[in-house]
Amino acid sequence: MSDSARHPFLQGLSKHRGTPPTIVVIFGASGDLTARKLLPALYNLAHDNLLPADFHLVGFSRSPLPDAEFRALATKAVRDFSRRAPHTAVLERLAGRLSYVAGGYDEPAAFTRLAAHIAELEQRLGGETQVLCYISTPPSVFGAILHQLGACGLAARRLDSPLHTKVVIEKPFGRDLASARALNAAIREVCAEKQVYRIDHYLGKETVQDLLVQRFANAIFEPLWNRNFIDHIQITVAENLGVGTRGGYYEQSGALRDMIQNHTMQLLALTAMEPPVSLDAEAVRDEKVKVLRAVQALALGPEGDTARAQYAAGMVGGKMVPGYREEPGIAADSATETYTALRLSINNWRWQGVPFYLRSGKRLARRVSEIAIQFKRPPGTLFAAAGERFALAPNTLSFLIQPDEGLSLVLNGKVPGLETRTQPVKMSFRYAATYGSDTPEAYERLVLDALTGDGTLFIRGDEAEASWELCTPVLDSWRELGRQGMDTYAAGSWGPAAADTLLARHGHQWRQP
Ligand code: BG6
Repeated sequence: MSDSARHPFLQGLSKHRGTPPTIVVIFGASGDLTARKLLPALYNLAHDNLLPADFHLVGFSRSPLPDAEFRALATKAVRDFSRRAPHTAVLERLAGRLSYVAGGYDEPAAFTRLAAHIAELEQRLGGETQVLCYISTPPSVFGAILHQLGACGLAARRLDSPLHTKVVIEKPFGRDLASARALNAAIREVCAEKQVYRIDHYLGKETVQDLLVQRFANAIFEPLWNRNFIDHIQITVAENLGVGTRGGYYEQSGALRDMIQNHTMQLLALTAMEPPVSLDAEAVRDEKVKVLRAVQALALGPEGDTARAQYAAGMVGGKMVPGYREEPGIAADSATETYTALRLSINNWRWQGVPFYLRSGKRLARRVSEIAIQFKRPPGTLFAAAGERFALAPNTLSFLIQPDEGLSLVLNGKVPGLETRTQPVKMSFRYAATYGSDTPEAYERLVLDALTGDGTLFIRGDEAEASWELCTPVLDSWRELGRQGMDTYAAGSWGPAAADTLLARHGHQWRQP
């Protein structure tokens, strides 16, 4: 048997993790996210024998596209963006299971055609299938798609069986509390919450899942994980890229909506939540909602808990890059922030008095995401040099989310020699060194979880609203202020002075990861 013929996907073997026979429909099939993330994720699942043997993918979008062209587009996307060089026979087999339906997102006839196509595919596959609808369009048509899925009967398909229709919704989930509530209401009109998978791709990242394992699979951390031992926590999601070609989208969004409300708030929730009673979707999400609800409203205004800024021209990777307001598609007087820092206080038994500092920005010095837990300083009495009250470094535990995934702990140690001198030393664990660097991408894990009906790594409706409830008053106050109070930072730097001042007011300073 040739090597290709031996591949399990080619032999129809599969059903690891019990993925049932599935027809996936991608709305927004000709879009960027489909090409960069979804198709490569599906390919890699096929490669790893994790797709069901009875699998079919239907692309749906407005552009008329013959099946053959959609297959060619999908094949190219996998070749261009898959983390692994594709295995030709697996890719051909996957491409053979693709078809395409063109139509408007608010066009009832198009959804009737889609439903008929699905019925025909199911007959061809020869057994009962589930339908997974992946909504990967601009948010302006989320509501229309949901409505049509209800009207054509696809949403309610097999509602009382595990093969019920599943709906994955891409971000952004609303642009403020009111729109998130409206979207949740539109969902509730056609689906039950158990059918809905709101994506935040940060939850699919290996290191983010490892945060739960580190916290709850080790006995040494949890006793220290509270206000008695922790001084403060810093969550950084820094990017060195600018807005690139996404100016049109970004101008309407900004750092708070694009990164803080979703990704960094999720990191905060996982760091701060109480131990869930199980890893069930509901148990984990109940704890996340509880902790998000315990976050106090932010103080607004100049001495408040927020800082925002835009990048100005600067050097990135040895090259001069333009400032935000000189980028294509950006208004010269834009009031959209490319950097946000927040100071959050969680008013519960575990965390009262421990500040959580969150920051995220474009065009910063490096692409790096981390959660740093800074413990209280040890009493310096034994080792501090005379007069140096704080000679000992605080212990810091850092979860390195990307790019160099791992964990590190800063301890004070003795410098070898004849005198007793202390120095901070770092204990590090790197994924690449222990496990190699071929870890699955976030979208692979999330698509597989949705296929198998596991919502643990997805955001529940009330969770999205709890996060918007905190962010919306900040957005409202910034909208009123316009450009007033907007700081700037040089591209390639670590952010604006306003963010340093925010921490300095509370006796802290940002780490330089
Ligand atoms: C997306 C944002 O959600 O996350 C982008 O819309 C951002 O602006 C991206 O660049 C960052 O994701 P990652 O996985 O590269 O950190």
